[in-house]
Amino acid sequence: MVGSVLMQRMQEEGDFAHIDPVFFSTSNAGGKAPAMAKNETTLKDANNIDELKKCEIIITCQGGDYTTEIFPKLRAAGWNGYWIDAASTLRMADDAVIILDPVNLHVIKDALGRGVKNYIGGNCTNSIMLMGMNGLFREGLVEWVSSMTYQAASGGGANHMRELLKGMGVIHSAVADELATPSSAILDIDRKVAQTIRNDVPTEFFPAPLAGGLIPWIDKQLDNGQSKEEWKGQAEVNKILGNKNTIPVDGLCVRIGAMRCHSLALTVKLKKDVPLAQAEEIIRSGNQWVKWVPNERSITEKELTPASITGGLEVGVGRVRKLNMGPEYLSAFVIGDQLLWGAAEPLRRMLRIILD
Ligand code: HSE
Repeated sequence: MVGSVLMQRMQEEGDFAHIDPVFFSTSNAGGKAPAMAKNETTLKDANNIDELKKCEIIITCQGGDYTTEIFPKLRAAGWNGYWIDAASTLRMADDAVIILDPVNLHVIKDALGRGVKNYIGGNCTNSIMLMGMNGLFREGLVEWVSSMTYQAASGGGANHMRELLKGMGVIHSAVADELATPSSAILDIDRKVAQTIRNDVPTEFFPAPLAGGLIPWIDKQLDNGQSKEEWKGQAEVNKILGNKNTIPVDGLCVRIGAMRCHSLALTVKLKKDVPLAQAEEIIRSGNQWVKWVPNERSITEKELTPASITGGLEVGVGRVRKLNMGPEYLSAFVIGDQLLWGAAEPLRRMLRIILD
């Protein structure tokens, strides 16, 4: 799925005009390559190290298992090209940079200058948070961040999105007749819905029913009580920013029934009392994709939602206000399409950075 979004974005931005692409597949080697292929019009075998070795740059969205298996073999075979992927396998490796160029172009350029060859897209919630709050980090104003996430089904993959929709359909079917009858009692409908969620909503891919619910755990369990997704927050954010002094980032990661927009409710402890108007200005100046939403009810309800943000590159930032805890405590709500800035977009931009 991320690969399809990547291809679409590369076409929209004319990236294929700058390269002579060779397409690889793990399942359909010998099949017809996409129309953008110039010289090599059949799909190559993505497990064939000799074929892969011929590429100067490899971009892959095949996932962590593929990276784990193929990347070491390629390097062992002497391949010295650029590897760009979105899997977590290599993210924390010393010889890899986590790429999010609107935020860390200086880190990327420095690494290119030092001959680093591995450029890896970050975890989607981290990338979206940093795209939205870049201004405050850039100005060195952040002491720590508590980040409570609302993560969409797409973070699990295509099957998870389908399962969410199937679950919605199952619930609706269970009470369709009652819904069509205005006089039916809502508590009777609710009882039937609860029963349906417990017994009939499919859970082949998610560990619990997501339709009509949520799941307050994402990824593996670590010994310290964090989920792996929560652990990534501090580790990746600080690596992306190239920080020498670690900024604490922590919070709970929760799966919700959105399709492809991840959101975060943030508490930001500032290093000093920055006037609200100034903090707003700094956040707005973060990058050209920040979609600033004033902290007002009607515009927030309209603009700071998955319905408004999905499918686009803008990262919504709103609900910014000072909290009761004190003048250094700021709230913010950040929302972005996790398949774009959270997955495909940094990869294609990295390709262009290497080519420039
Ligand atoms: N791990 C993320 C999620 C997706 O499950 O939502 C990719 O970063």
